[in-house]
Amino acid sequence: MKILVLNGSPKRELSDTMHVTRAFLDGMNEAAPQAVHTIHVIDKHIEYCTGCFSCMRNGGTCIHDDNMREILNEILASDLLIWSFPLYCYGMPAPLKALLDRTLPLSSMAMQKVGERYEHIGQADFSRLRYLMISGCGFPNSRHNFEPAAAQFRLCFPGGHTIITVPESPMFNAPEAAVVTEPRLALVRQAGKQYAKSGGIDTALLNEICSPMIPEEQYAAIVNGRV
Ligand SMILES: Cc1cc2nc3c(=O)[nH]c(=O)nc-3n(C[C@H](O)[C@H](O)[C@H](O)COP(=O)(O)O)c2cc1C
Repeated sequence: MKILVLNGSPKRELSDTMHVTRAFLDGMNEAAPQAVHTIHVIDKHIEYCTGCFSCMRNGGTCIHDDNMREILNEILASDLLIWSFPLYCYGMPAPLKALLDRTLPLSSMAMQKVGERYEHIGQADFSRLRYLMISGCGFPNSRHNFEPAAAQFRLCFPGGHTIITVPESPMFNAPEAAVVTEPRLALVRQAGKQYAKSGGIDTALLNEICSPMIPEEQYAAIVNGRV
């Protein structure tokens, strides 16, 4: 499978969230060899969308001639897009949001009703694409924290999406937390293996991965003790 990882963390490979993403990919690779390419979005020249809509009327060419042209080609050549990002103000970091906005050339102005909502009709065929969101965050729980980002992801990619949210993710970069992060990453590898084989992750396993690694109060006390 051709997998494109869009790493939205400005910390590149040092990203807390990328620990989870790499473990997931390791699990997928255990099931079958995968062709993975990772883009550190912070290193790319991606202009903001100006909202001119010319790309939606002219067959898909944006007025900006920047790295987004090759990224769109890579997206179209992929089977799975992994959006790996830290939660910033309950959403995705700005460089990754700029990339998301700039996927507009894949759609036309024409819209159709699907169930209760409208969506644009594509001007490229990306029907085989599947979408995975992997997001880490600094707070110790997932209950409301990830709701806006997950809602955006579900609406943008209504077909074939899976969402993994991991609270307390700075612990992945803390060697002293290995006693809890390593078992968690083992679960993530298991999830990756499952996903590669079946295209999904068991609900119980997903819930375990998305739960705090240590009690919320303990995590908050550790963070507060360092500041
Ligand atoms: C600008 C900014 C906004 C943030 N907003 C949130 C937030 O809304 N909720 C949260 O739990 N953590 C928030 N965080 C913390 C990060 O999500 C957290 O540090 C995460 O582990 C960083 O992941 P990374 O290393 O993959 O970039 C924010 C961090 C920054 C720098």
